[in-house]
Amino acid sequence: MVREILIWPDPILKQKARPVAQVDDTLRTLIQDMFETMYSAEGVGLAAPQVGVLQRVIVLDTRPRQPESKPLAMINPEIIAMEGKTVYAEGCLSIPGESEDVERAEVVTVKYLDPEGQEQTLRCDGLLAIAVQHESDHLDGIVFVEHISGLKRELIRKRMKRLKASREQRAAL
Ligand code: NI
Repeated sequence: MVREILIWPDPILKQKARPVAQVDDTLRTLIQDMFETMYSAEGVGLAAPQVGVLQRVIVLDTRPRQPESKPLAMINPEIIAMEGKTVYAEGCLSIPGESEDVERAEVVTVKYLDPEGQEQTLRCDGLLAIAVQHESDHLDGIVFVEHISGLKRELIRKRMKRLKASREQRAAL
């Protein structure tokens, strides 16, 4: 089921998500919904808080840019190593139509539970490394615009306010 994606700024997107205590069918349904939501919005990553669920779960699929990669669901992801620096023009499904350069580590090693509850460790580079850092930020209540200048952020905030107002108007008809 495709869920509604919250648009920044939203109080939920500022909150820290809770660790998942149990990997069960309810969680796997959430993960399935997150994949469907991400694909329907043509994104390469989505974090549970973006669909209003404050749990530490992210989904990723960077195959459009990295054909050798695969769809990944990470539960309680933890970045345990970072190497190098890179700059990439990031976007976010919660900030539609916007993108800005953000500096991130170039390579990250992430530890997480997979949907079967098995512990995994993965070294990520390229777009996947950026997406893991971007989605992990969401779990700590941080969106990419917190990494850019305050002036740019305020311009984006105004555009998002207009976007939300026009969406609400449409919904009222
Ligand atoms: Ni995002």
